[in-house]
Formats: sequence, structure tokens, C-alpha cells
Amino acid sequence: MSNGQEGNGNRAVSPNGAAPQPERRYAQIVGWGCHVPEKVITNKDLEQIVDTSDEWIRSRTGIEQRHVAADPKETTATLAIKAARKALETADVYPRHVDLIICATSSPEHTFPATASIVQDALGAVNAGAFDLSAACSGFVYGLALARGLILAGDAEYVLVIGAETLSRIVDWTDRNTCILFGDGAGAVLVAASNVPGGIQATVLGSDGSGADALSLPAGGSAMPASLETVSNGSHYIKMDGKAVFRFAVRVMADATRRVLEKAGLAVDDVDLVIPHQANKRIIQNSILRQLKIPEEKVFINLQKYGNTSTASIPIALCEAIEAGKVKPGQNIVFVGFGAGLSWAAAAIHWSVPVEKREYGWWRSYQRRASYQAAAARSMWKRALRRVYSQVLPTPDEDEWPETSPVKEPEGSD
Ligand code: COA
Repeated sequence: MSNGQEGNGNRAVSPNGAAPQPERRYAQIVGWGCHVPEKVITNKDLEQIVDTSDEWIRSRTGIEQRHVAADPKETTATLAIKAARKALETADVYPRHVDLIICATSSPEHTFPATASIVQDALGAVNAGAFDLSAACSGFVYGLALARGLILAGDAEYVLVIGAETLSRIVDWTDRNTCILFGDGAGAVLVAASNVPGGIQATVLGSDGSGADALSLPAGGSAMPASLETVSNGSHYIKMDGKAVFRFAVRVMADATRRVLEKAGLAVDDVDLVIPHQANKRIIQNSILRQLKIPEEKVFINLQKYGNTSTASIPIALCEAIEAGKVKPGQNIVFVGFGAGLSWAAAAIHWSVPVEKREYGWWRSYQRRASYQAAAARSMWKRALRRVYSQVLPTPDEDEWPETSPVKEPEGSD
């Protein structure tokens, strides 16, 4: 941690007990958190909705159930906020220290504003920039690559990378090809600047837009704006050529893993844990297990519980892998994903941060809760002020603008 703030970055341990190298910067994952909606839809439940069977879904995908945001008040942003708060809490970092929030999502709240901005406001991350990242299911790893780049360049100390989805809102629940696959949820990590060697070592990003049609949400953008026709013919739902995506995924998952290991100077045997995008167990088996010959016990799979949560799948799996004791300091970990675009991404991480749960005491929790309440109050106050000013005050002509604006924005302190 270069700025002496509180947080997990200081807890990074040097592999082999080597002395930290203060002159170099590293991008360490120092906080993690996830959240899924309560409502569970099992394969048996789906048998009531479409012509499918529990046996078919299990054997072709490995999925047994998925969580869905049944409450309309639960949205991509609300899931993201909960995951992000947990990540900040694990790292013991306050929102005001975050420099950037990247929300990777394929089911944003709106085309604009960015879901990340809504998250920023709710967290009270008053010093953070915020934007959404659209690279479909590869988006979370794309976000990690950006976070690493900004941190290594010295442009950020803390970057919050979130993957959050409510895919249940854009899935056609009458289409058995797609509705069995997807689930809702969010995962977040806090990436911090550190002088302890390790962290995100290398990333690989890829895209092949010639496969854009294989997986898409055709309507609602500039190519096919929303109309009565697009709504009535279901063009606002996910369309997928499952076989084409499957073939592509099996190839790129193995290739991207090989390439990221090469970039990090590692061999396949050096890998302690792979956390792949949780889309289909057969894709993972045919790529990571069969092609790379990485044994099953080194590959973390939890898609049976959540289905494919797109950008959220890798950070949710990371949280569960940590919870299950599968992540330890000194390990080499690979994240690898693929998705619409077509796109793919991989990251090689030398894990250097303790994973034991730390207790921060009631005072820290109280401060944290109070800061979120203050953020909500500040947001309401700013909204009210804007409304009042836009209704009461006429817009001044150019030459009437005073040196300082009469609309004094509330300070962003907490
Ligand atoms: N329940 C029962 N039968 C189904 C079904 C379902 N939910 N979905 C398809 N079928 C049927 C098909 O109609 C087909 O029947 P037919 O042989 O009479 O024509 C048969 O099952 C086989 O279909 P097929 O498409 O060949 O199955 P598959 O083994 O390729 O599995 C997917 C389909 C979608 C599970 C698989 O292709 C896949 O996972 N693709 C990747 C999708 C993905 O990961 N997308 C997200 C990317 S981030």
C-alpha cells in the first residue's frame, strides 16, 4: 500500500519470506465479496416452465439450480452494491479511498447512466471514477486487466472491479436453449497497489467479432432500437447458437490459459488453482482438464449452484474457493473466461494476501454502516437540491454566470 491507508494491502506476505521491494508496484487482490438473490429455481422447477428435464440439464451442463432476482427491487446495481461492500469490508478499506469502480455487466440497469455510477453513489465512493465494461462473460477479467494497468502505471491505488448480473430479466423463459443456463448474482474484488511482489502477474484479452451473432441481445441498441415489433418478436432476449459457442469456448479456454501462463513465465504444472468461467461443466472438462491436463482437484467449479452468472461467475467462484480453503498465499491461480463478442480473457495471479477472515470489531462495523447511511443521505440531499434549482432558478445567460456557481454542491466528505 503506497499511501499508508488502512487495508489488506499491508497484509500481503512476501513469498519465500523475501524482503518487500519498495521500488516496484504490484496489483494485489486485497478484498473480495459476493451476493446472490435468495430465490432459487431448480431444474425441476424449470420442467414446469419449458420442455426439459433435470437429467438433460445436469448431463449437458452440470447445472442443478440458479438464483434469480425475483423481487423487482433487486437489480444489477443492488446486487453489485452488496458484493462491493463485502469486498471493501474484507480489505478493511473505506469507499472514499477507492479511485475507480469498474462494473462489468451484460445486464446493466440502463444503457446509461452506468451501473457503476449508481454503485459509486450508494457506496459513498466520492473520490472514484466509475464506468461499465461491456465484454459479456469475459468482462470481469477485462476489468482486472484494466485495474492492474492503472495501478502499475501509478494512476490508481484502489480499483473496485465488479461483475454483476440480473440475466433473468433478459432471458426468454420460453426458450429452453437459453433459460436453463443463466442465473443472477454479483461478485467484486478490490485491487490495490502494493509493494509486495505478487498479485495479478499477466493478462490476456481477446476478441473475434466475426462471431458476434453466435450470442447476442439483438434489440434495444442503435442497430435495432426498441419498437413494438422488437418487443413482440422477443428481440430483447438473449439469442444463442449453443453449439457454436461451445466449440469456440473449448478452444479459447485452453488457448487463453496457455498464453497467460506463458506471459507470466509459468508452466501448466505450476498452476495451483484454475477458476474458470462457470458456463458448462463439459466446456471446462474438454478444455482445462482434457487439453491442458490440469487435474480436477485444481479446478474450482460451482456452476451446479448458480448456473452461468456471466461477469459474476469468476468472482463468485473466487469467494467460494476462498471460503472452501482452496486459495492460499504463495499459489499460482488462473482466471479464464469467454463470452459474447465473441470474447475471451485470462489472468494469472500469484496470490500473496492472507485469506483468513479478520474481525474488525463493532466500532469499525458501526463506522462502515454510518458511512453508507451518510452516503444515502448525501445522495438524497443532492437530488433534492438539483430538483429545486432546476425548477426555481432560471438558467443564467452565458455572461451572467458568476465566478463561483450559486449551486453549491454538497461536499463529498464522509
Ligand atoms: N432440454 C431438453 N432438450 C434440449 C434442451 C433442453 N433445455 N435444449 C436443447 N435440447 C435438445 C435439442 O433440441 C436437441 O434435440 P434434437 O437432437 O432432437 O434436435 C438436443 O437436445 C441436443 O441439442 P444440442 O444443442 O446438440 O445440445 P448440446 O449438447 O450442444 O447442449 C448447450 C446445448 C446449450 C447446453 C451447449 O451447446 C452449450 O452449453 N453451449 C454453450 C453455451 C454457453 O456457454 N453460453 C454462454 C456463453 S458465456
